[in-house]
Amino acid sequence: MDAGIQDLPEFWRAAPRRWGHSLHSLCSYFAMFPPQLAHFFIDWLTQPGDAVYDPFAGRGTVCLEAALQGRLGYGSDANPMAVVLTQAKIHVPSRRALFARLSKLESGYASSTVSANDVPDTIAMLYSEQTLKQLNWLRNELDRARDVDCFLIATILGMLHANHNKSGPQGFSISMPNTFAMAPGYVARYIDEHRLQAPEVDVFAMLRTRLARLDLPAVKLEAGRSWAHDATASPPPWLIRRRPKLIFTSPPYLQVIKYGKYNWVRLWFLGETSAAVDQKLMASASLQRYIEFMTSVSANLRRIVAEDGYACLVIGDVRRGDEDLNLAQAVWDGVLREQGWYLHGIIADEIPQDRKVSRIWKHNSGRATKVDRMLLLSPNEQRLPDVVPPSWGRSTFADIRK
Ligand SMILES: C[S@@+](CC[C@H](N)C(=O)[O-])C[C@H]1O[C@@H](n2cnc3c(N)ncnc32)[C@H](O)[C@@H]1O
Repeated sequence: MDAGIQDLPEFWRAAPRRWGHSLHSLCSYFAMFPPQLAHFFIDWLTQPGDAVYDPFAGRGTVCLEAALQGRLGYGSDANPMAVVLTQAKIHVPSRRALFARLSKLESGYASSTVSANDVPDTIAMLYSEQTLKQLNWLRNELDRARDVDCFLIATILGMLHANHNKSGPQGFSISMPNTFAMAPGYVARYIDEHRLQAPEVDVFAMLRTRLARLDLPAVKLEAGRSWAHDATASPPPWLIRRRPKLIFTSPPYLQVIKYGKYNWVRLWFLGETSAAVDQKLMASASLQRYIEFMTSVSANLRRIVAEDGYACLVIGDVRRGDEDLNLAQAVWDGVLREQGWYLHGIIADEIPQDRKVSRIWKHNSGRATKVDRMLLLSPNEQRLPDVVPPSWGRSTFADIRK
């Protein structure tokens, strides 16, 4: 084990509270990690121009941090929502292009005959008639294969449900948690019992306000790639050739997190279904199945990572009965050691968790994961570079280091 490695959390804990680029909060996502963590490791272990890969990209935190530091961010995930959110972080259209597209969409909407007759009742109950028509029209019109549209889709996903506060609606729907959507039947009863009225909001006007508050680039940014991929499947040949210098990722934990089930509203907008999404994702409470899963994931990562590169896996402890299981250690003992990885160390970090979110995992009974652990690995034995404390200045697209 490398000396001093246990002190590393001091570096990212030194970041100012709420540090991070405005794009990180484009849309919430389960089990996301703080951007300062990715920022620190990318700054420390890679150089401008290097490739950084996250095989469980989630909302694209690693890819955005890579792009902001002049690296290339490659992110894959088996969840189509994650693919869209990640794409929006690394193919960022210019401010001008986004506003121009929004104006065009708005005039297209104004001159169209629109109906929301084909929208399921469970969706219709969340929005006013006008908002629903606008959303349904945008849903059919936007094409996620185009970068400008993909960015608008990601922005809309982040506003489809939101808590209302004193300043009014923060999103398009009746007031709901902004992180996840409760079951449709529960929401329907809640609306009924509390006589909730959907807000009369104009989707185009709200999008314009949201975009105006984001730090967007003056010229479009293309700094990597996002694609749909099951991390247990063979990696694409182009990625093997690309040899990322750093793989930085947080695999699904040994917990049954239903990314699809709790995102049914967002998945409707994407034309996907919760059941189909959850079927694609790893969600098991069996340690044996998890170890098998990580065995094929890690074998794939070894084929990709640069010979002089690093892999950092963030794996939190999980509650099993009355005890915490050190899952990172279990993955080292049961998978990585045998595959010949060199272990620099397992860094323990207390990461504050959102207790509100953790409460919905019944078996977790309101208890947030206490310790996250980072397995810092290399394909071969090698020295780690010296640590230079990163600067925690405001990161913007204007000062991307090439
Ligand atoms: C812990 S989350 C990663 C969150 C990410 N670090 C962030 O900050 O947004 C785990 C991710 O693994 C994805 N996932 C689950 N099973 C997968 C599989 N078999 N292949 C690829 N991705 C998978 C989920 O969709 C989820 O996005």
